[in-house]
Amino acid sequence: MGLKHKDLLGIQDLSSEEIRLILETAEPMKDIIRRQIKKVPTLRGKAVINLFYEPSTRTRTSFELAGKYMSADTINISTSTSSVVKGESLRDTAKTLEVMGADIVIIRHSAAGAPHILSKYISASVINAGDGFHEHPTQALLDMFTIKEKKGRIDGLKVAVVGDILHSRVARSNIWGFTKMGAEVRVIGPSTLLPPGIEKLGVTPYTSIEEGLSGVDVIMVLRIQLERQQKGLFPTIREYARLFGVTPERAGLARPDALIMHPGPMNRGVEISPEVADSMQSVINEQVTNGVAVRMALLYLLAGGGSPHEIID
Ligand code: CP
Repeated sequence: MGLKHKDLLGIQDLSSEEIRLILETAEPMKDIIRRQIKKVPTLRGKAVINLFYEPSTRTRTSFELAGKYMSADTINISTSTSSVVKGESLRDTAKTLEVMGADIVIIRHSAAGAPHILSKYISASVINAGDGFHEHPTQALLDMFTIKEKKGRIDGLKVAVVGDILHSRVARSNIWGFTKMGAEVRVIGPSTLLPPGIEKLGVTPYTSIEEGLSGVDVIMVLRIQLERQQKGLFPTIREYARLFGVTPERAGLARPDALIMHPGPMNRGVEISPEVADSMQSVINEQVTNGVAVRMALLYLLAGGGSPHEIID
């Protein structure tokens, strides 16, 4: 069985079987990135293009490395130095990349739905690397991979997602993913940062961080997105840190073996204290490593690869 879709646009579109396939495919990919010589010929002759209209360190670099480790030709387009600054439309930019031979286009855009529009214009596969407030599916997949690797399962775990749920595409993709995989999901934050009706997604909202973190297996801390904030959603950064920052005392309310996660980049001392970020329970660095393995798996599957057992070494 492969992926049923040409593109990866969101976790909402994936079945639990497809999520399982991606996570299983990422396991042999992780073995490849542990090797001294991290190179397999699997995607030789394929062209992979990173088209990022917003800044990124982790996602863009890990897609580039993922392609290179599998021998694809990978190119980064920074929109600030491309013809986008001369007014070229998303459609014309994408078509230009396709006629040059792109097989997979990875796009990050500030507008929700931009990858979905792109996928209609081009026959190359499109991967959503984050669209506005909407979804960040590859982040959710690497988060699920990390939890499964550390805990052996996702099903039945209590997962708390803490912080700016309203502006977070990571929160939305994680909620879809964790609930599809059978986790019990709590979302925690000030009521101004919890979208109205969030319960309809199958999660339980908490405005008390102490109650929300009590007895959970995973604490997923979200970045306060200062660049997307409207004024007045909370009084000050210092007030947010005091009321909702994940401190060692608050993290101690979770299970003793709870994982501490953060998609990055972190605002240390705001949503997460440095002691928690660097604690023995933190798997934040493993999330980044696993991002490369999961993105290798996606490139492989979207390029037509089948079962993880077929991966050529
Ligand atoms: N987590 C994440 O998307 O990080 P970047 O913005 O660095 O890609």
